[in-house]
Amino acid sequence: MTVSPELLRASAAHFVDGELAIEDVALADIADAVGTPVYVYSSAMFASQYQLLVEALEGLPNRLHYAVKANSTLAVLKQFADLGAGFDIVSGGELGRVLAAGGDPSHVVFSGVGKSTEEIDFALKTKIECFNVESAGELTRISERAKVLGKVAPIALRINPNVDAQTHPYISTGLRENKFGIAQENAPALYRLAAADPHIQVRGIACHIGSQIGDPQPLFDALEQLLALVDALKNEDIVLTDIDLGGGFGVTYDEEPAFDVTAWGRRVKERLDDRGLQLSIEPGRFLTANAGVLLTRVEYLKIGDENSGSNEASSAGKHFAVVDAAMNDLLRPSLYQAWHGVLAVKQQNTQDAARTWDIVGPICESGDWLAKDRQMSLCVGDLLCVLSAGAYGSTLSSNYNTRPRAAEVIVDGGTFRLVRRRESLQDLLTTEML
Ligand code: LLP
Repeated sequence: MTVSPELLRASAAHFVDGELAIEDVALADIADAVGTPVYVYSSAMFASQYQLLVEALEGLPNRLHYAVKANSTLAVLKQFADLGAGFDIVSGGELGRVLAAGGDPSHVVFSGVGKSTEEIDFALKTKIECFNVESAGELTRISERAKVLGKVAPIALRINPNVDAQTHPYISTGLRENKFGIAQENAPALYRLAAADPHIQVRGIACHIGSQIGDPQPLFDALEQLLALVDALKNEDIVLTDIDLGGGFGVTYDEEPAFDVTAWGRRVKERLDDRGLQLSIEPGRFLTANAGVLLTRVEYLKIGDENSGSNEASSAGKHFAVVDAAMNDLLRPSLYQAWHGVLAVKQQNTQDAARTWDIVGPICESGDWLAKDRQMSLCVGDLLCVLSAGAYGSTLSSNYNTRPRAAEVIVDGGTFRLVRRRESLQDLLTTEML
């Protein structure tokens, strides 16, 4: 087996009679019906991950804001809206998606360091729940726009607590060297300004220190810093009602255990018990990553020079399985050297014939790979399943090499439905003019 038992347990994909399925649908049937590459998600797993968080925070006033950037497909957003989630957005485009999916703007928090005037106006007009403000300049701009539009903007300041989330440097956001948030020592003065501004309603305090976090301690360190600020502000009669601890809960990609939300929730509840603060969180990956897979088919096998000096050799000793999905479909391996489990959809009993493959896409970049050094026996036409692809998969996809974006499917029990059709070449050309 090319993936760990931990990952197989964590993933929505499981073997039934030697073939991979999600819920009660064989993945091969989906590939036959929709073609490849295709993202497939489990509706039941979206719901069960959401339920884990609900239960972890039971008893504490709280609001779950699903981080839209993890997977912003409308049908996915609609399911989270139906489950009762609010949304964490980082652009006007994401707000547009939430509205198109039927989400309630009054349960939307708006994060991000570069909110444009247009985006601020859109959010003010749709009456979002809160702007998570990341700089003094942004606070001024929000106030000015609220004044022009005759509104009062609800805000929290996003604090940069300067704690190390101990994750990949590209997805660490809570260090002084990162562009995010307001340094703690600058926060009180900004809160004073905000509290005195008739077009600003001060609601809360926020942070988000990074993504794919395994050890909860940095999250607690950040919480302590936020609470110290809440207390200091209270002494100045600036009373905050909301505390947003961001997202970042890690999941199993290989053998690492998923973040223990139950233990984390217990500790957070103890700490916030008597404070009268509403807790907000912004998880993305935790809710969607292992609910999704990417199906791709083997197009070509390029066998390296083993011992026979084959003229098929592309690189001495290296074997490449060229599949029909590429870095434009799933960027994480190329961008973060991320490890994604890969399984043949039909279980293999032919380990004797196994070779070590790099699984690569058709894009003209050496960085275009999905997995490296995987021991598998492969044939042209085999269907492969790339695991843990439900978060930051389709949302990071692009049209590089003028490749249409993949189709997306949601499985619900014994049925599946297409929720995003594969792009056509016409879709890609439609915005251009000669
Ligand atoms: N809130 C804010 C303000 C964020 O910036 C993020 C993620 C989240 C919430 C959700 O974090 P999560 O619960 O999903 O860890 N593309 C990278 C991940 C980038 C995360 C960026 N911010 C990846 O594929 O690993």
